[in-house]
Formats: sequence, structure tokens, C-alpha cells
Amino acid sequence: MPVIEIRDQVREHYAEHARTFLQGSAASCCGNGPGSCCSTEDTIPVQALTALHAKNEIPGDIVQTSLGCGTPLELAAVQPGEIVLDLGSGGGLDCFFAARFVGPTGHVIGVDMTPEMLKLANENKQKVGLSNVEFRHGYLEALPVDDASVDVIISNCVINLAADKDVVLREAYRVLKPNGRVVFSDIVARSALPQGLRKNMEAWAECVGGAIPRQEYEEKMQRAGFQNIRVAGEPQPDDLIYSAKFQATK
Ligand SMILES: C[S@@+](CC[C@H](N)C(=O)[O-])C[C@H]1O[C@@H](n2cnc3c(N)ncnc32)[C@H](O)[C@@H]1O
Repeated sequence: MPVIEIRDQVREHYAEHARTFLQGSAASCCGNGPGSCCSTEDTIPVQALTALHAKNEIPGDIVQTSLGCGTPLELAAVQPGEIVLDLGSGGGLDCFFAARFVGPTGHVIGVDMTPEMLKLANENKQKVGLSNVEFRHGYLEALPVDDASVDVIISNCVINLAADKDVVLREAYRVLKPNGRVVFSDIVARSALPQGLRKNMEAWAECVGGAIPRQEYEEKMQRAGFQNIRVAGEPQPDDLIYSAKFQATK
């Protein structure tokens, strides 16, 4: 499947999610399949997430717009004054959370390719009233961010959606400051997925078809230049895919 075709399909999938949220409908989550991105079964600790954001005064209806598969900020140890970049920021939830951590002297940038998602994120930003966060339209494959300009990169259930993960990881490395750090929550595969699933565009957009084995993900991070790579997360006995967290430094 050509990269652009995959990206177009993924964008339309998330545009539809955003339109649903913008109309005020409840989250339906990607596919609702067990283990798919934003499954409440085994990938997102929904209660933990809600508690985490409630503590940081993020309204419940914004928490509902999460389509993530983990909580990257739990490991990112974001400090006041830092610059944080969120790859595939969706409705902006993780950005708002990060914005609380960096405070008025810091800054948070969310990048997303789906205009409807950016609209949702900006509406959510109005609701939370934060001024130290901005949302930029762009692709993970060509980030609208300067070289060596951010302290921390987070991403929540997005890199699996990219057709060319090497390019995405090289871009992340480019924009990270020396000694900067990344935390990616993502969906990975227990082992290489069957071709039928990888070619199924619906499965791809639901964070299944594009999932690669954890070791392959680590090797790609290494090739992009990342160091001190650590991975957490193990599959349950019947899992074809599962949620993992990747941490690394530059
Ligand atoms: C599963 S959602 C996750 C959104 C958000 N991180 C969260 O936790 O709610 C994936 C998001 O990544 C965006 N996305 C996917 N591939 C992208 C790419 N190549 N470049 C930019 N954004 C992308 C989609 O538009 C969508 O908003």
C-alpha cells in the first residue's frame, strides 16, 4: 500500500472521530475491538486516566476525547519551563496535561494531520483556558518543528499508524534537543502480523494493521539514533497486539 494512500485513509478515519466529538457525541473509540487502539479492555486504563486528568483539572468531556492507548506523561517527568511536543495530538488531552506540568514558562506543541482533530483540540483548549499550548497542522513524516528545539517528545497511539515508521522516528530525533527524551505509548504486535491484516485499511486505521513487533520498533529507534531505549509492556497470552511504552534519549 502506498504511504500517501494509507495516510489518507487514516486521516479520514480520525476526521470522522473528531466530527463525532465536535457534535458532542460520546466516544465510540476506534473499532471497539479488544486490543485495538482505545479499547477500554486492555489497552487504556480508563479509570486511571480519568483520575489523573481530574487531578489536573481537565474536564471530563475532554478526557472522553482521548483515543490513546496509554499514559506517556506518567514516565516523561516533564519539568516546569520545558518544551514538549506531542506527535499526533488528536483532541489535545495529553497536551493539556503536559501544559500543566511545564507551567507558564514552558510550552507545548501538538502536531496532527487531521484538520477536524485540530478544530477539536482548539475548542478543547478554549474550554481548559490554557495559553501555553498550540496545535500545528502537519505530518509526523515532516514535522513543522525546528531542529533540536524540544526537550520532550510524547506520543500516544500514533506511530503504529504511520506507513514509514523510520522516517517518523528520524524526524522525532531531528527536532529533539541533545539529551532530550521521548516517551511513546503505542500498539505493538506480538509477532509479525499476517499480510491480510496489514493490507486491511480498516484494521490499519484502528491501530492494528500497522503494529510491528516490539523488537522491530526498538531497532528502528536505534537506527534513528536514539539511545538508552527502554520498553515496558507485555502481551497477555491471547493478545495479537498490545500496548507498550518506549522511552529513549538523544
Ligand atoms: C489514535 S489517535 C490518538 C490521538 C491522541 N494522541 C490521543 O491520545 O487521543 C491518532 C491521531 O494521530 C493523527 N495522525 C495519524 N497519523 C499521522 C501522521 N502521519 N501525521 C500527523 N498526524 C497523524 C490522527 O489524525 C489522530 O488524531
